[in-house]
Amino acid sequence: MRTYLVTGGAGFIGSNYIHYMFRKYGDSIRIINVDALTYAGNLENLKDVESRDNYTFIRADIRDREAIEKIFAEYDIDRVVHFAAESHVDRSIRNPEIFVETNVLGTLVMLNAAKKAWELPDGTYPADKRFLYVSTDEVYGSLEEGDTYFYETTPFSPHSPYSASKASGDMLTKAYWDTYRFPINITSCSNNYGPYQFPEKLIPLIINNALQGKKLPVYGDGKNVRDWLYVDDHAKAIDMVQEKGRLGERYNIGGHNEKQNIEIIHIILETLQEMLSEDDPRKALVSKDLITYVEDRKGHDRRYAIAPDKIKEEIGWYPETMFKEGIRLTIQWFFEHEEWMKNVTSGDYQKYYEEMYQVK
Ligand code: NAD
Ligand code: TYD
Repeated sequence: MRTYLVTGGAGFIGSNYIHYMFRKYGDSIRIINVDALTYAGNLENLKDVESRDNYTFIRADIRDREAIEKIFAEYDIDRVVHFAAESHVDRSIRNPEIFVETNVLGTLVMLNAAKKAWELPDGTYPADKRFLYVSTDEVYGSLEEGDTYFYETTPFSPHSPYSASKASGDMLTKAYWDTYRFPINITSCSNNYGPYQFPEKLIPLIINNALQGKKLPVYGDGKNVRDWLYVDDHAKAIDMVQEKGRLGERYNIGGHNEKQNIEIIHIILETLQEMLSEDDPRKALVSKDLITYVEDRKGHDRRYAIAPDKIKEEIGWYPETMFKEGIRLTIQWFFEHEEWMKNVTSGDYQKYYEEMYQVK
């Protein structure tokens, strides 16, 4: 049975990936989810898989070399999917240190532990072992007037402490291929949206605020462009890269769905209006009047956009979920998970681990 070590599996994309993998492979794989449960880690995201015999949660910090090496010693890991990171640009502007510690040094710990566990006496690696670093399109910097897309060959030019730290982890991962032929892949993905996303990011924040009649903060002129991808499509892409990708290669993953932030906000407001029933008291709260222009983010990248040509040609992946459909699925999920949102915004989700795992 193939064993996956997923780091950061209690976060937004990691938990969606774990759900995707169990939906796809059922009992034929084992997943070990290693997560430190920072503010962004929420085990409620994984309630429906935690009783599975082929799922194990381990609370550990990827910066903790001993703890990570112990996991590799205990389990015969075949695949690493490395999501764990500090992921929010605004937080990185306020406190860059933790971004370097987790995203750079934590990645180095993961690479070294996997290398130590997998390396054969002759310096090669067994054929089925693979380490995937989940990178971001933000490592490429910002597209400006006249630019086309980010390609795998676009030079790195990160601007925020977040993207600089992700670029460092990304380059370290590549260096392990170049230097040791350690079996890696890197995926650089555009902005994700979907279930379980923490409401500090644009889409869940706007949905949550609009439903409560709270202001909708728009940074700067609202015309910054992001390329939004439904999170299940990302999970599928990661799996396909691990199955079919060429070792040592980077694959860009994008949604073919570029939109200005202000357009996203209008689409969310219109979709909420369509989906809320006439007698729902929240319908009267959802309004364009909530849109509030606020001070711009420092160093705000203007546009991100990916041409996912390489992954389509080599691997056959393409984004399947149209934004109109994906945003409805996301809003429907938030409608059905009011309790989740309440727990996240009140901080109660952090009690779940203590209760569930009976930690004193
Ligand atoms: P997230 O913030 O929702 O989740 C991160 C997870 O990592 C959390 O569960 C957290 O507890 C865990 N974590 C943080 N520090 C840790 C540490 N030191 N040790 C162990 N676990 C730790 O992030 P996300 O949005 O799910 O992003 C996952 C990955 O995908 C990140 O590497 C991010 O850079 C990348 N990515 C995200 C997006 C996006 O749109 N969200 C786009 C492209 C790439
Ligand atoms: P975000 O979801 O933080 O993702 P990223 O910065 O990684 O792209 O932000 C997406 C875009 O939305 C970005 O251009 C910043 C903007 N934004 C707002 O205008 N208002 C907000 O409240 C937030 C959180 C983001």
